[in-house]
Amino acid sequence: MKKKIAVLPGDGIGPEVTEQAIKVLDAVADRYDHYFEYCYCQVGATAIDSCGNPLPDETLDACLHGDAVLFGAIGHPKYDNDPSAPVRPEQGLLKLRKSLGLFANIRPVATYEKLLHLSPLREERVKGTDLVIYRELTGGIYFGAKGRNETKTEAYDHCNYADYEIERIARLAFEHAMTRRRKVTLVDKANVLETSRLWRERVTQMAKEYPEIEFDCMFVDNAAMQLIQYPTQFDVMLTENMFGDILSDEASVLPGSMGLLPSASVGQKTALFEPIHGSYPQAAGKDIANPMAAILSGAMLLDHFGLHKEANAVRTSVTKILEAGIGTPELHPQIACGCTQIGDLIALAVYDENLNLKKAKIEERVSTII
Ligand code: IPM
Ligand code: MN
Repeated sequence: MKKKIAVLPGDGIGPEVTEQAIKVLDAVADRYDHYFEYCYCQVGATAIDSCGNPLPDETLDACLHGDAVLFGAIGHPKYDNDPSAPVRPEQGLLKLRKSLGLFANIRPVATYEKLLHLSPLREERVKGTDLVIYRELTGGIYFGAKGRNETKTEAYDHCNYADYEIERIARLAFEHAMTRRRKVTLVDKANVLETSRLWRERVTQMAKEYPEIEFDCMFVDNAAMQLIQYPTQFDVMLTENMFGDILSDEASVLPGSMGLLPSASVGQKTALFEPIHGSYPQAAGKDIANPMAAILSGAMLLDHFGLHKEANAVRTSVTKILEAGIGTPELHPQIACGCTQIGDLIALAVYDENLNLKKAKIEERVSTII
């Protein structure tokens, strides 16, 4: 298979984790006889620095013409400390989502046996957690009218949803649930918000088309609580843009490190794949960032191409590395490796499923630790 991938490494640790994801995609291409062509483009603070625009036209063009987008991370402290900066890295990502029509952000959250002790929750609570969040990504309060009154003493952000915006993501969530444990939880605030009442009305109606699916609705405040009390109760969580932003960050710490979680954004045009973590500028260039989230985003990209065997090979390799007690420093592993070494090892494991990790590490000199 031949595919063109637009690569947007972005800011902070974005470039280094993306490099590892590419390394692993190249291993997949070699082993399974595919050809991936990469088109590198600028986005975020890096793009602002070089041309004043967080999403340059060439970048958007490459994304529109690619078969997929692999995204690193964006953000820089100089903008975080100034929320009113007229040009911000986040604008690049928001415009990209809107321009590609990426209405569904899919964030799977699964735990790894070996890492349960790292979870902020007690092991017995978190064990078995395996959920996926479907977050609406191009509507709601993020994209509604916003502004100030004349004296700048009042501000507003409008939250709008049209029925079709709800139905198209709900359809994806129900279809995905059919391939999983067949449970969908709609998270809303229908006791207060009119948009939430529309969500509830439409999604409840659609649920009737899926009698095999257990469907329930939960208020967002309760869901935030239930997510840390009984995370195993959830299978597919479906929600609007801002609730999804918050809940997916909450859910992302359950497995013990944010550095493990990938995401896919799909919709009308080219799909985009990105780790859910941010640009982590403090770690940039130090070779300590965990590239697994980026690598697993690469696996979701392979799934999107229909390359499921290949995607599973990547996931199996990541699990194998973790099971062998190998990881980046934040995982407090038995064998700590840098970002690059983890990328090397996962790529090697993709090449050779019988790879003896200890041996490979010594022979390939991918680690100076053992
Ligand atoms: C995310 C991020 C973005 C969002 C920011 C960077 C605009 O937090 O992808 O979750 O809020 O959607
Ligand atoms: Mn977020």
